Amino acid sequence: MAACALAGKGHSVSGHSSGSRGEGHDYHVTAPVLLLLGRGKDSGSERGVECPGDLPAPSDPGLVERARAAKAALGERVFVLGHHYQRDEVIQFADVTGDSFKLAREAAARPDAEFIVFCGVHFMAESADILTSDAQKVVLPDLAAGCSMADMAVLEQVEQAWDLLTDLGIAESTIPVTYMNSSADIKGFVGRNKGVVCTSSNAKRALTWAFERGEKVLFLPDQHLGRNTAVLEMGFSLDDCVLYDPHKPDGGLTDDQFRRAKMILWRGHCSVHGRFTLECVNEVRERVPGVNVLVHPECRHEVVTAADYVGSTEYIIKTLDAAPAGSKWAVGTELNLVRRLANAHPDKEIMFLDRTVCYCSTMNRIDLPHLVWALEELVAGRVPNRITVDADTAHHARSALDQMLALP
Ligand code: 13P
Ligand code: SF4
Repeated sequence: MAACALAGKGHSVSGHSSGSRGEGHDYHVTAPVLLLLGRGKDSGSERGVECPGDLPAPSDPGLVERARAAKAALGERVFVLGHHYQRDEVIQFADVTGDSFKLAREAAARPDAEFIVFCGVHFMAESADILTSDAQKVVLPDLAAGCSMADMAVLEQVEQAWDLLTDLGIAESTIPVTYMNSSADIKGFVGRNKGVVCTSSNAKRALTWAFERGEKVLFLPDQHLGRNTAVLEMGFSLDDCVLYDPHKPDGGLTDDQFRRAKMILWRGHCSVHGRFTLECVNEVRERVPGVNVLVHPECRHEVVTAADYVGSTEYIIKTLDAAPAGSKWAVGTELNLVRRLANAHPDKEIMFLDRTVCYCSTMNRIDLPHLVWALEELVAGRVPNRITVDADTAHHARSALDQMLALP
């Protein structure tokens, strides 16, 4: 199940998947986080349903040609979006690649495409469905491509937290902000309560917007992006932040802690970026003199604090594009992207920040056989794995997404 690989020669591999509730936290999981190879149902998950269909064998030597032929047959009717964490074998067929912010904008900007094939994870495909017209159909080639972080905030839990804030008399002065990496349900909740969606590219702008309208923010579901942005970019202190644990009574916080907090952080995290530790940073600095450490803001606070550069996947790409030849970089983000960047810049020394590394196993669910299958189904007149969001949820989620797209 785990999608592990070696960062360098002679290093050992540890078992891990992006679905683990690792990071040393005591999570009480109410539903299985990863479906075994996409079979079965998981009603507690942001993706939920099974992966049907007869997939071509991964060893089929004709897969590339079949994907090309199916895309050509569909022509302008199909638009393929590819997140930067996707495999090379898939990304070669993307009409556009990007981080979650760029892909949301690209989906919204393609009103003529009948089919949007989303090579990414479930919450991204949901956002694309919300931002496109009813006539457009969004397809996720493998429904098991969920996100363990998004699964860490479930609507009932968030409503319970909001009821608590209401009872304390602070809900009115609290603006909910959710990271793009959340289910449509959570985005709908945020829209209903006059909040905004953010991505790692615009989290500071979203928080600035929120603090112009309220005294506190409830930040969902990534504690690290919330904390890192508030403390390192907005001037708040760590004491201004509290951690709400949905598995503890009252979130594990006292009334006084709620009242004094500026940032109420949801206890969620990315299991891929959560792997990077301060020891990784110290170790690479010792091993590679002059190395620049570049990390994604989903990493833990102590890692981001110790790094030289911090930013979204688009920022990471631009930083490495602009780096001088001969410079050395240890990068703390998903491995498919780091590998692609290392291959694209042979004149620079680009390495993975951790010595034992893993891909995002759910992003990796989308492989060439699934893409070929999805495209060929469309050619045959069938729409596989369509992602739809119900009208009421979509309406409110859209207002939170539109608010994000309109941020100054
Ligand atoms: P961005 O695409 O916003 O950088 O987010 C990274 C990520 O983890 C996507 O799942
Ligand atoms: Fe979710 Fe992390 Fe994978 Fe992104 S990298 S899809 S946040 S588990």
